[in-house]
Amino acid sequence: MSRNRLLVKNAQQVVLIFAANYTLFYANTVGPAETIRAQYSEASFDRVIDAAGMCVLPGLVDAHTHPVWAGDRVHEFAMKLAGATYMDVHRAGGGIHFTVEHTRASAASDLLASLRSRLARMQRAGTTLVECKSGYGLELQTELKMLEVIEEARRSLPINVSSTYCGAHAVPKGKTVTEATEDILQVQLPRLKALMSAGKLRVDNIDVFCEQGVFDLDSTRSILQAGKEMGLKINFHGDELHPMNSAEMGAELGALAISHLEEVTDEGIVAMAKAKTAAVLLPTTAYILRLPQPRARDMLDAGVIVALGSDFNPNAYCCSMPIIMHLACVNMRMSMSEALAAATINAAFALGRSHTHGSLEVDKHGDLLLLDTTRWEHLIYQLGGHQEVIRYVIIKGKVV
Ligand code: NIG
Ligand code: FE
Repeated sequence: MSRNRLLVKNAQQVVLIFAANYTLFYANTVGPAETIRAQYSEASFDRVIDAAGMCVLPGLVDAHTHPVWAGDRVHEFAMKLAGATYMDVHRAGGGIHFTVEHTRASAASDLLASLRSRLARMQRAGTTLVECKSGYGLELQTELKMLEVIEEARRSLPINVSSTYCGAHAVPKGKTVTEATEDILQVQLPRLKALMSAGKLRVDNIDVFCEQGVFDLDSTRSILQAGKEMGLKINFHGDELHPMNSAEMGAELGALAISHLEEVTDEGIVAMAKAKTAAVLLPTTAYILRLPQPRARDMLDAGVIVALGSDFNPNAYCCSMPIIMHLACVNMRMSMSEALAAATINAAFALGRSHTHGSLEVDKHGDLLLLDTTRWEHLIYQLGGHQEVIRYVIIKGKVV
């Protein structure tokens, strides 16, 4: 592997999450100026960035996205503004079903092209590690097509990717929950397992949409359990529109993360804190669907690991983690520091990557942002202003 030598010096503020007083970065080495100067001469670097007047932050981590699909749903946005609920649209054959029809009919090359441009947009907004789900196929062939497209993006783009099999994102039209669950357990997961064992596909996590009218608690449990036995990390949608006891069940299964949780119970919060199951909160969903806000404060007070995600999908068309942090602060009453930790180290934890990503520490990937401002909080404060605030996005020590 070719070494890339990047030196960032003289920064005004450096936000390390855990440590302070570091001023220089050399690729994935971070340290006090004197130590790095003693080890390396400035002339040996491929590139030197004088960060005088700038702030250095860890790269942002987006813990929940659905970025592979065809067919936008701008028409449904108008329906929802006029009062239709998410489930009204879904039951009428729209929502996820609309996207499934278009995604099934799309060529992998077209899906890859749109995925690339969406990931580039996220990267420009400071995301350096992103979770990407399948879930608009609901049958073997299209789910595999989506996972292969995600794999190709992982191989060819600088942004770090965590991939999630989400074949249980909706019950396919014309099938019962039992039939859909059987298809996943008997057909989709065994094929996935074979491809993974042969080294032909990499998948990190397993997801199910556990919701009334979608996958009930028992079918969710059996799918997640089967995924876990294949070595996938459990990371699923729960307690979004109705209280389903998803949090309690996920904690019991040892889930790494549960997303949404607008309708989580007090017992669910306690169970997640105890099991160290991260809560991935998605401020855009509650905002767009006018749902109750996720109870971030109660979770933080109970000791739950709170992470954030954009939930980018045709229902919530937002690629920007700075906007997500802003919404989390205003609507969910998180402090700016809590939002930053939730969008970096805690989001990395939710993906099982906190040993390599999510903070600026020796031996982690050199993923960082340079902000053209003397106080890092401008990244959150300037609603929609991240394009002007973010000067450089650096992934694995390279300016991208
Ligand atoms: O996380 N709630 C389920 N899944 C997505 C929405 C996907 C869609 O509507 O296409 C979510 O919000
Ligand atoms: Fe989602």
